[in-house]
Amino acid sequence: MSPSTKNKNNTKPEKRILVTGAAGFIGSNFVHLLLNEKPNWHIVALDSLTYAGNLANLTDCLENQNVEFIKGDICDPQTVTQALANVDIVVNFAAESHVDRSILGCQDFIRTNVTGTQVLLDAARAANVKRFIQISTDEVYGSLGPEGYFTETSPLAPNSPYSASKAAADLLCRAYFKTYQFPVIVTRCSNNYGPYQFPEKLIPLFVTNLIENKKVPVYGDGLQVRDWIHVNDHCTAILAVIEKGAPGEIYNVGGNNDRPNLELVKMILEYLDKSESSIEYVTDRPGHDRRYAVDCSKIERELRWEPNIDFAEGLTRTIDWYKENPQWWQQIKTGQYLKYYQQQYGVTI
Ligand code: NAD
Ligand code: TYD
Repeated sequence: MSPSTKNKNNTKPEKRILVTGAAGFIGSNFVHLLLNEKPNWHIVALDSLTYAGNLANLTDCLENQNVEFIKGDICDPQTVTQALANVDIVVNFAAESHVDRSILGCQDFIRTNVTGTQVLLDAARAANVKRFIQISTDEVYGSLGPEGYFTETSPLAPNSPYSASKAAADLLCRAYFKTYQFPVIVTRCSNNYGPYQFPEKLIPLFVTNLIENKKVPVYGDGLQVRDWIHVNDHCTAILAVIEKGAPGEIYNVGGNNDRPNLELVKMILEYLDKSESSIEYVTDRPGHDRRYAVDCSKIERELRWEPNIDFAEGLTRTIDWYKENPQWWQQIKTGQYLKYYQQQYGVTI
């Protein structure tokens, strides 16, 4: 691994950015966005390629000379130190990201989300990185009642092993800013949707099951509320944070679009011309957070960012993407995935 110091025009790149978890859902969408928006940046894309990492998410990007891919683990100090050579900015997407898997067992979540973040923070500090963006989540706040919104000063009260591990990483970042004045910025975003999302999360799981004329498992009464944001809007928020965010700050990011799961499921059913008989109500998720909703007025006011993609439009575009790219998800929904499905839902698909 020898990081190049030139970009494709054979000139020194304006910035070098390390994107961890770059082969996952949001990381890969972020690399796509950077290639469009920042053609003079050099991107070091690092990913250990767990079950959720997929080089097919980066197919076009890997041919670009401004992108250098490293298969590596954020828990390995040597790997991250090498990847950080001459890097100005780090965006840490790398994580175990699925709540249901964290309930089945959370060892990998503690390893990557907590230890991995600590290893990356230490190496980035040693490398004198100028901006470290930690991609946290609104799930660190826990669950809301029927009213109100999480602000950046709401107490952290995570309820799942996943959100507890993300809260630990989020607080480590705070501590590195307070203790060492290391320029960390934390974002806490709501539920993303869009292309390249692993089909274990609600939207891609339900869309792909329905395309195959299978049932969709709704947990409990289906009245849990989530705020949904298109992944592209999340990525533009991260770019705004890199360019205009203040070190030590936290920014909530969301779609101003909170709605009950059943309402969303009915939109998907309608677009795919399916009836409600495709719904299977299954046992609720243990510790299931009832409602998430974020107040994004800080990032809107201070960084002049706002979400642009209308939900109905973004959702239909996303469903179309899964319809048009069956080879992408059919390759995933085999082998280990089927074992996970059986363990999680008690049925085979
Ligand atoms: P994802 O599971 O699709 O991708 C995670 C990526 O990290 C995968 O490519 C995986 O291979 C990689 N990875 C895992 N462990 C690693 C390790 N030890 N070293 C290097 N790479 C490793 O997740 P996502 O949905 O793209 O989420 C990305 C980040 O955004 C996560 O930190 C998540 O907590 C956060 N987030 C996600 C959402 C959402 O709705 N998906 C919302 C808010 C915040
Ligand atoms: P998910 O996509 O797993 O995101 P998160 O748990 O991080 O919010 O789930 C979104 C919502 O959908 C959540 O309330 C759980 C619910 N859900 C189901 O009802 N059935 C399912 O099979 C899945 C995966 C999720």
